[in-house]
Amino acid sequence: MASAIVVTGATGPIGRQVVAGLRDRGAEVRAVTRQADAAPATAGIRFVSAQAPFVDLLDGARAALINVTALGAGDPTADPEARLTELVAAARTHGVGHLVLLSSASAADPESPIGAGYRPVEERLAQFDGAVTILRSVLFMSNTAHWWSAAIQQSRTASAPYADVAVAPIDDRDVASVITAALLTEPAAVAGTHLLTGPALLTPRELVATIAEILGADIAFEDLPPDVVRGRLVGAGLPARAVDGLLRSFEYARLEPVAPSAAVQRFTGRRAGTYARWVADHLALFR
Ligand SMILES: NC(=O)c1ccc[n+]([C@@H]2O[C@H](COP(=O)([O-])OP(=O)(O)OC[C@H]3O[C@@H](n4cnc5c(N)ncnc54)[C@H](OP(=O)(O)O)[C@@H]3O)[C@@H](O)[C@H]2O)c1
Repeated sequence: MASAIVVTGATGPIGRQVVAGLRDRGAEVRAVTRQADAAPATAGIRFVSAQAPFVDLLDGARAALINVTALGAGDPTADPEARLTELVAAARTHGVGHLVLLSSASAADPESPIGAGYRPVEERLAQFDGAVTILRSVLFMSNTAHWWSAAIQQSRTASAPYADVAVAPIDDRDVASVITAALLTEPAAVAGTHLLTGPALLTPRELVATIAEILGADIAFEDLPPDVVRGRLVGAGLPARAVDGLLRSFEYARLEPVAPSAAVQRFTGRRAGTYARWVADHLALFR
């Protein structure tokens, strides 16, 4: 009987936690990586090569996590659509019962460049004849370290556009826990599309104030026009599409305010972690 759970993107920040969570709960884990030979031998986890065809990777699998980065999304030399088509065909061949996709809340926004990358993946999966669970996540709390840790460490300053637009960032650990639970749950109970958010609406100004409070230091906050931020980030070498996607996610939150969802509680049985808790657990990033 098919028993393995295949995790693509297994070495990424989310994938690593999913693999460990599945292993801890006794599942047979097949962790997909481009560097299977270099992966450390780990009890309960079998690393397999991402270069292998999916018809081999999914043989004997009952469920699989799809991570779009691991399909090559964002890599101009890759063909993620062909890889996804191959994955879905292999899932059908082997009777894999459950495909779980880590998607983005931006998929709901017709004008989002990030959403434009996820929607075709979601649409392709809708044609799969087994159960499909689509987990649309909002911004990860860990993004705020990329935005602010250097400036806070160096000069106790932080800047952001959309200073007073509220979002509901989610603790990455909750994202991984929801995925783990979804992969281990009877598919019919979780199939469908779910919005994953953190527990509270917070503006960039409030996020920085939270860091300041937990750090016990004053942080000067500067509200910047989106155009200025775009120029700086693209000038620093970030892909324009990624920058536009990030800015659009705040513009969309301004136009269509997000409401915190109960998905983390529903999947994990625990309340979603707060931003204050995330900061306290990662304070070294801001000291
Ligand atoms: N950050 C957010 O706010 C946010 C919000 C919603 C959704 N998401 C999505 O959540 C996922 C994040 O997952 P993650 O942080 O665990 O890791 P990730 O950045 O998606 O990477 C996962 C793994 O994919 C492999 N990979 C990287 N580039 C690749 C390429 N060009 N071709 C093939 N494989 C490649 C790497 O593994 P190997 O080197 O071992 O092969 C990497 O460890 C992403 O899909 C992201 O779009 C993020």
